[in-house]
Amino acid sequence: MSLFNQILLLMCVLTLLSTHNSLRVNAYSSLFFQRMHVNVTNTLLENLDLTLHCKSADDDLGPHVLHHGQNFVMNFKNNFLGETLFFCSFRWNKELHWFDIYIANRDDCRTTCNWYILQSGPCRTIAPKDNVECFAWNKNK
Ligand SMILES: *[C@@H]1O[C@H](CO)[C@@H](O)[C@H](O)[C@H]1NC(C)=O
Repeated sequence: MSLFNQILLLMCVLTLLSTHNSLRVNAYSSLFFQRMHVNVTNTLLENLDLTLHCKSADDDLGPHVLHHGQNFVMNFKNNFLGETLFFCSFRWNKELHWFDIYIANRDDCRTTCNWYILQSGPCRTIAPKDNVECFAWNKNK
């Protein structure tokens, strides 16, 4: 085989592999156009009010003030590419933090992802298992 043909063959194999891989990943997450439910509850200590402001590339959900124990539910559909990302700012007293509240490849919120906001960061349970998983605030602002 000539060098040119070898390179051509290699390129074909790589293209096939990458196509196959993304199909597998997409089928695995199977999240396209799925309706997602994300429920954020203010569980800050000391009965503090939480101001929550969530956005994606397409949507700005606006600021919401949650008293201690109150919650805010976000319902949305994943986009075609399964790349949906919602990020929120969280304010209380003089604190301001950011967190990616929904990342399509991280979270399966077809039932509901329940988030509980603490000073130390957000903790999540996913129904029906309800295992608690806690995360750190985003490092960048
Ligand atoms: C959101 O979470 C709160 C606190 O766990 C709960 O009381 C409320 O029923 C949840 N709402 C939805 C729509 O899941």
